[in-house]
Amino acid sequence: MTPMTPLTPSGAVRQQGAACAALGSPMYAALCVRVADDLDAGGPTADVLADHRHLRGPDALALRLLGAVHRLVLERRAGVLAAFYPSVGGTWADEAGWAAFRDLLAAEPDAVRAGLDLPPRTNEVGRVAALLGGLLHLPDACRRPVRLHELGASGGLLLRPDHVRCTGPGGTAAGPEDAAVALPDAWTGDVARLRPWPDLEVVLRRGCDLAPVDPTTTDGRTTLAAYTWPDQPERWERLRSALALAARVPAAVEVADAADFAASVDLVDGTTTVLWQAITEQYWSDGTTAGVGRRIEELLDAATPDAPFVHLALEPRRRGDDRPCAVTLRAAWGTGRDERDLGTAAPHGVPVRWG
Ligand SMILES: C[S@@+](CC[C@H](N)C(=O)[O-])C[C@H]1O[C@@H](n2cnc3c(N)ncnc32)[C@H](O)[C@@H]1O
Repeated sequence: MTPMTPLTPSGAVRQQGAACAALGSPMYAALCVRVADDLDAGGPTADVLADHRHLRGPDALALRLLGAVHRLVLERRAGVLAAFYPSVGGTWADEAGWAAFRDLLAAEPDAVRAGLDLPPRTNEVGRVAALLGGLLHLPDACRRPVRLHELGASGGLLLRPDHVRCTGPGGTAAGPEDAAVALPDAWTGDVARLRPWPDLEVVLRRGCDLAPVDPTTTDGRTTLAAYTWPDQPERWERLRSALALAARVPAAVEVADAADFAASVDLVDGTTTVLWQAITEQYWSDGTTAGVGRRIEELLDAATPDAPFVHLALEPRRRGDDRPCAVTLRAAWGTGRDERDLGTAAPHGVPVRWG
């Protein structure tokens, strides 16, 4: 196999731009091309990103930059640039929008740099469609009151799956009809695999993050909004409803590395212990990945019929050298160690294709 050449910073930004185009954000797609060109030309972007050029592709440099600038826009600290951001009532325009973006980088480099150190703490409640659907694959033996744990939980918006209504083809649905968060068109593919779990009860909601976001504070809500792409109204609607839910249903997100948190997860008789994660592994150190993997194996070994354990991971995976990366829901439960791929999802969760 030919070793892959690491992408240059501008190459990684261009790749992110292509992903934004594919994911329905023409504004961020256009901005990424401009940012990459400006990086190559040594413009203000190169100066702002100078200390972060070592970041690898998975560290999502482009999304850090776009999130940092969006935060300034939301805080009304970005001057005329706000006129181009649909999230604050503006309208994107390629030429004039880029000129205002570039001017902001040149005028306020430190304010932008302040948002570059942390990975994007996007909290995309659409990903519940995949994780909740994973629970609907569980056999009866695993269907006990759920003690839910999440690695890399950001604001913890995925810790309330029992308050989310997912609907799909053929009348498939999960969650209360009057749920606070609605995910229509959540699923495609082999939806017959989803077995209803109407009395799903979540008795514990615990997550961890290296830098948790508190969705009940103005600062936390601004952070989560900053990582939501400005020209995607359907994601804004999901975020709005998830934030309202978070204000009502508490969930604890602890400051902890994923491996340390995983070590603290235990099994309790009469309950199903679920450990799940979404789009976080790419930011972990090798030690964290190894530590989480070890703990999952221990918990699978320790599980009993009275205290089942389930691991669900929604992460980008390459299934074969010649196949593109796909965000895949991988599951492990029961006494066997079998990992199974249940389906693939759009990076922001919906729709999920089962099978
Ligand atoms: C892209 S966000 C995804 C958040 C959430 N899982 C979701 O899907 O909406 C990735 C999160 O992983 C967190 N993270 C990165 N490295 C971590 C680590 N070693 N331990 C715990 N959390 C980590 C980041 O702070 C960030 O909030």
